[in-house]
Amino acid sequence: MPTEQEVIEQLKAALTEATEKLKEQDKILKDLAEPPGMLARLTNIIPKDATHPERLIIDERLFVLRPKNLEKVRLEIGDYLHVEKSTIGSVALIDKIELPPQPMAVMKVAEITDQGRIMLEAGDTVIPLHKNPLKGVEIGDRLVVGGPSPFLAIAIENLGKAEKHYQFNDELNINWNDVGGQAHAKAMLREAIEYPIIHADLYKSLGKKPIKGVLLEGPPGCGKTLLAKAAAGAIAKLHKSANELSGYIYIKGPEVLSKWVGEAEGTIRNLFNMARAHRQKHGYPAVVFIDECESLLSRRGTGISSDMDKTIVPAFLAELDGLNDSGAMVILATNRPDRLDPAVVREGRIDRRIRVERPNQTDSAQIFELYLKKVPTCKAPKEVASLAAEHLFSPATGLVTLRTADGDTFPFTLGHVASGAMLAGIVDRSTSLVLHEALAVSGTKRKAVMEMPLTGDHVIRATGEVHQSMLKVDHSDDIRAWAEARKTKIVGVAAYA
Ligand SMILES: Nc1ncnc2c1ncn2[C@@H]1O[C@H](COP(=O)(O)OP(=O)(O)OP(=O)(O)O)[C@@H](O)[C@H]1O
Ligand SMILES: [Mg+2]
Repeated sequence: MPTEQEVIEQLKAALTEATEKLKEQDKILKDLAEPPGMLARLTNIIPKDATHPERLIIDERLFVLRPKNLEKVRLEIGDYLHVEKSTIGSVALIDKIELPPQPMAVMKVAEITDQGRIMLEAGDTVIPLHKNPLKGVEIGDRLVVGGPSPFLAIAIENLGKAEKHYQFNDELNINWNDVGGQAHAKAMLREAIEYPIIHADLYKSLGKKPIKGVLLEGPPGCGKTLLAKAAAGAIAKLHKSANELSGYIYIKGPEVLSKWVGEAEGTIRNLFNMARAHRQKHGYPAVVFIDECESLLSRRGTGISSDMDKTIVPAFLAELDGLNDSGAMVILATNRPDRLDPAVVREGRIDRRIRVERPNQTDSAQIFELYLKKVPTCKAPKEVASLAAEHLFSPATGLVTLRTADGDTFPFTLGHVASGAMLAGIVDRSTSLVLHEALAVSGTKRKAVMEMPLTGDHVIRATGEVHQSMLKVDHSDDIRAWAEARKTKIVGVAAYA
């Protein structure tokens, strides 16, 4: 773990770098605006491939005679040059401009010619990709392209094939038992997803329609994504198709958004098209899972994601409203339900909300046990787990003391801000402690250490480390949530003594 000072240094360095980049771009723009020069495209080099060409043709009409300084810059047709402004034919070359390629669009590779030229799909026709610095591009890949115009497109990033983007690849072997605690969320999710499949006949005879979707909401690291993966595994198993497309379509909100204009809406449409195609082909509805959905479906007009939310949310709602009863089932997950556009979660749309809560002491014991069982040197995982969970909620891990309106004081502990991810982390730290003990000695002594199991003491020490780091964190959100859940009011918060 980097120290606080190191983190500050890293941030400083990143900031300086970003500022430098901005300055550079600023300079390029300023230079371009300078009156004597102009920006022109190199359209021919005569003779071709010469180190000292006779002339450069730019914009197909102007030329640079016996250009100098070409040792430093390697020119290629299509490059942009900064040249002296001129109305007559001959100009002086000032410099080559490296325009930082800005992403402009996402385009699909339609074909690759024998010469290795990449052709991009553009409506009914194809256009050649001008420059491709990327390796391993294949037909069907989606490229983020940039450049001064569509005909001078430069590949910036390969997003791969759309389908890849939409799948959990090799994680279909996670099942419900891998999720500790969360009994309520598990039951709700299973009912929503598995019942319509397992009890299809009952649903049919009752005229019951599967619901359109559910929203998993709750604090970070408590198992929303994990639950979704378990659901994916369950569906695959129900349809006995663990190795192929299981009817589970997955996307992560921020990943979609970070790409280019129009891509997000396209992705939403694509997503539902895939679901429809799936149903047609396999005869049962697909599950569409949108993880970290607040980035895509945030309240319109807040500018939280960007102005694009103005078009993404309606695109999503249109698809949702158009879902015929068994077309697909949508799962959304977020740790910021307050940011969601209310239209998304209103009655008749994604109106089933499933809370994924922080683990209580019993849940924590379950989760600890899940992870301790995987540590070969832990001899009695269940006992160690129950001890660890007790310690987690004991005054020994106090963060602050709360005073409630009715005069009570309450030790607010590490347990009250724990998450599955934190507990998994504590177990991992515990194994590090054992490792360090073993590394501190050698030979037969090391063997002896390795024969000693991971114990409750290791877990308690690891918990202590996490406790230390959490003492500095602001817990007001969790304190507020705690008070709300207990329908009490906090009148005082004191440092834990
Ligand atoms: N209930 C749980 N049981 C077992 N492991 C858990 C549980 N919750 C979290 N974890 C562990 O923590 C990791 C992170 O959890 P997960 O990604 O599911 O959190 P999340 O709720 O989706 O968080 P975020 O809101 O940040 O996306 C999991 O991969 C798993 O290792
Ligand atoms: Mg998640």
